[in-house]
Amino acid sequence: MRTQVGIVGAGPAGLMLAMLLHREGIESVVVEARTREYVEDRVRAGLLEQNTVDLLRELDVGERLDSEGLEHNGIYLRYDEENHYVDMAGLTGRHITIYGQQEVVKDLTQALLGRGVSVLFEVSDVELHDIDTDHPRITYEHDGRADELTCDAIAGCDGFHGVSRETIADQLTEYEYVYGFGWLGILAEAKPATDELIYAWHEDGFALYTMRSETISRLYLQVDAEEDIGNWPDDRIWNELGVRLGDVNAGPIFDKGITPMRSYVAEPMQHGRLFLAGDSAHIVPPTGAKGLNLAVNDVRILAPGLTELVRDGRTDRLDRYTAAALRRVWRAQDFSNYMTQMLHHLGGGRFERRLQLARLEYVERSEPAARSLAENYVGLPAEPDF
Ligand code: PHB
Repeated sequence: MRTQVGIVGAGPAGLMLAMLLHREGIESVVVEARTREYVEDRVRAGLLEQNTVDLLRELDVGERLDSEGLEHNGIYLRYDEENHYVDMAGLTGRHITIYGQQEVVKDLTQALLGRGVSVLFEVSDVELHDIDTDHPRITYEHDGRADELTCDAIAGCDGFHGVSRETIADQLTEYEYVYGFGWLGILAEAKPATDELIYAWHEDGFALYTMRSETISRLYLQVDAEEDIGNWPDDRIWNELGVRLGDVNAGPIFDKGITPMRSYVAEPMQHGRLFLAGDSAHIVPPTGAKGLNLAVNDVRILAPGLTELVRDGRTDRLDRYTAAALRRVWRAQDFSNYMTQMLHHLGGGRFERRLQLARLEYVERSEPAARSLAENYVGLPAEPDF
């Protein structure tokens, strides 16, 4: 088989890239190791920056997002048993929208298949070849048959554990920070007891109150990175959420899991004709909810570069891909790290805890401090061109 751009991975980065390329009349094929059901049910964060929402609308995949997404104006920072509101819309004129990542994935997958773009699920033994040439290849097995896809370029959108980054591991400089804790996350059939998200600093550790709809709550608790979910029966979870968050509406829990937290960047995000996008190149802790939004930003930058390559055979824009994408990646790394360090129990003792409270109070007392947090949280405006 031959296509113009081979895309490895049907997560937000890969699917969004295929949509952006399709709009430009560029052909692509997406190959994904998992089943469609797995990818569409995989529970992840659910907070979209204004940039992400705008792009989904621009691509005509914003219909369900517009009817089911919850537009929010700000967040609460909770400490000393009180919620302190940060009015992000007032400070920045921009919004955030609550809409689950797997819903974005469903909408994009359906739109691509509807537009006749191939998305192949349950593909195994994926390998990348000849990425130092003008005709890189992806080999894989699908439907019990060995297959090969020859392309002009490959986009590695297959996440932190995918083959893409591994293929160019020798070429990369890695930056990593592993936190000693993780988030225990639940989904519950319960009306959220808050109108906006609550990020809570507490003696026992961080907690977050978020939601998916008027009837579904999503909540998180800071726990040890090595914690066993078996130690957390539902009663204990609700009890601890109440301690850290104050008013919480309990209800049947239908999903629960622990996610370890890390910060990671691989540079450069390209080698030869392979371009990394999303989690294959960088991981942020979920405290700033930047993961999906960064993935979308990568491909927003990558798509015009690939388009230029396919149309004119030029690589000028692609050559600038890493530098352009990394500006937002490192901004998000810094912001996610700042939010994480300000709100979690880091294990450093009383001095550290008092410093965290001083930072939180500064956001409450100073408009520039609040504005700085807000503009990072809602996302700096997308850069028009590069
Ligand atoms: C979520 O809704 O799952 C969510 C929201 C904000 C975060 C992380 C996760 O910072």
